[in-house]
Amino acid sequence: MGAAEMYRAVILILAVLSMSEAFRLRARFPRPQSKDFRHHAKRYVCRYCNYETRSFRQKRYLISTKNWEKSGPILFYTGNEGDITWFANNTGLMWDSASEFGAMLIFAEHRYYGESLPFGNKSYESPKYLGYLTSEQALADFAVLIYHLKATIPGASESPVIAIGGSYGGMLASWFRMKYPHIVVGALAASAPILQFSGMTPCESFYRIVTQDFKLDGGEACVNSVMKTWKTVKTYGSTVSGRKKLSSIFKLCTPLKTQSDVSKVEYWLSETWVNLAMVDYPYPANFLEPLPAWPIKVVCKHLQDDTLKGDKLLQAVADAVGVYYNNSGQAKCFNTSQQAVSSLGDEGWYFQACTEMVMPLCSDGVNDMFPETKWDFNEFAKECQRTSKVTPLKHWAEEMYGGKKIDSHSNIIFSNGLLDPWSAGGVTKNISDSLVAVIIEEGAHHLDLRHKNPLDPSSVVRARNTEKFYMAKWIKEFNEKKKKKLRLRNSHKTAKTKLNYVSIF
Ligand SMILES: *[C@@H]1O[C@H](CO)[C@@H](O)[C@H](O)[C@H]1NC(C)=O
Ligand SMILES: *[C@@H]1O[C@H](CO)[C@@H](O)[C@H](O)[C@H]1NC(C)=O
Ligand SMILES: *[C@@H]1O[C@H](CO)[C@@H](O)[C@H](O)[C@H]1NC(C)=O
Ligand SMILES: *[C@@H]1O[C@H](CO)[C@@H](O)[C@H](O)[C@H]1NC(C)=O
Ligand SMILES: *[C@@H]1O[C@H](CO)[C@@H](O)[C@H](O)[C@H]1NC(C)=O
Repeated sequence: MGAAEMYRAVILILAVLSMSEAFRLRARFPRPQSKDFRHHAKRYVCRYCNYETRSFRQKRYLISTKNWEKSGPILFYTGNEGDITWFANNTGLMWDSASEFGAMLIFAEHRYYGESLPFGNKSYESPKYLGYLTSEQALADFAVLIYHLKATIPGASESPVIAIGGSYGGMLASWFRMKYPHIVVGALAASAPILQFSGMTPCESFYRIVTQDFKLDGGEACVNSVMKTWKTVKTYGSTVSGRKKLSSIFKLCTPLKTQSDVSKVEYWLSETWVNLAMVDYPYPANFLEPLPAWPIKVVCKHLQDDTLKGDKLLQAVADAVGVYYNNSGQAKCFNTSQQAVSSLGDEGWYFQACTEMVMPLCSDGVNDMFPETKWDFNEFAKECQRTSKVTPLKHWAEEMYGGKKIDSHSNIIFSNGLLDPWSAGGVTKNISDSLVAVIIEEGAHHLDLRHKNPLDPSSVVRARNTEKFYMAKWIKEFNEKKKKKLRLRNSHKTAKTKLNYVSIF
């Protein structure tokens, strides 16, 4: 074998390895999908979200002052890894609370996402343009934007600001309060897995929660069916005729050619189950895809016969997946790249996951329904060097933000839905009087941030009330301090006048 062939062989082996092993290693939050694959999912237009779009240097933000009373609070959404309008449209809690609090709403876009590209269409060209894509930079951007708003909007300089966010945006909201306590009076961090980092949360927990959700909504049979799928997919995937069969049963847009294509199917299936667990909402919703109420229940209806084998099992799984991708009945075929690295938002998040946001995930295939995947930081680092040309910092998030040692901070609500796999890495215990954990038994990924709904379970109604109670408390404390300062200043003034009076005589 010549050097060139050997090199090619090594690359091939690496490619196959990275497809099967490293695929699922990078944790992903829900995010808006790229425009290419919206053909079967109608864009979700928000009727109650009346915002104005403004920009500030390279950053976009949305603003609504409709309900704002001068010096009233500012509810500030700390934007996640995606188009900010999508988060605005899916954070009904802020729209619902605006009139109650007489609040101004701001939704700030995270740089490198949506339209906030610091180097225009070059932003993602090479690592040399990506140096400013960090959570610290995003927090600094939020701080500068708040200074700007306070300086330019008459009446805003005296307004208390509350940070609100969900998912990665929730992590940012909590970190914002920790790092910039002089700018925000408190934070609501919904489904924010700030403990999903090396050494703080067992890497198995995430997939176990997904499995638990399927057991809860679909019973053992559903879990068994999903578990059986992996071996069947592998067997079919190992021959040319099998791959043909697999492609036709799953109605794949692009027929499977190689074994690594088959790994993509595995990845696509597991991502689908994970996404379903995140959006297992009690009413029909269109967050990631348009879905029925309690979608896992509907998915599992197709997977109740766990004695199925071969073609029949695969057909049942294809029908189940159709609940997620074909709710409209308009999908001609399934595209397994739909969940893989494609949209800009994904690219940015993969870069962040390969630098600071190193969130270990793994599965054992015994206590969860997923194929066995080990977490190996060194492998992960190699993969990052190969794909993103960067080396991840294993403990950076903990060093930067404190990990579990956050009890010196104050005024943060951490809310977690127990159906949400990200609750594994969330703060689920009260830390102090003002670092409060709110548990939502029937909640998936930041259900509490969504618009109120008649089908809301009581646990989320209670959670929202607790959240609003604390927000009102922070606002009141801020205003009382303000009044006290004013009184103090005035009493100094009177004292001075008296003094002057005295000195005259
Ligand atoms: C959010 O809703 C607005 C309408 O209020 C719509 O124009 C926009 O496209 C929506 N954004 C997304 C990402 O769905
Ligand atoms: C990138 O942006 C520049 C300036 O706006 C434009 O001239 C160029 O065509 C764009 N390139 C691509 C590949 O979109
Ligand atoms: C989507 O649903 C429609 C209606 O049930 C069906 O005819 C079509 O084959 C489905 N598409 C896929 C890719 O399964
Ligand atoms: C599948 O999705 C990817 C990513 O969005 C896209 O680039 C590709 O064109 C799609 N393929 C088909 C056949 O629709
Ligand atoms: C934390 O304390 C608050 C206020 O006392 C309470 O409502 C909440 O249930 C507690 N959370 C947990 C997880 O115990």
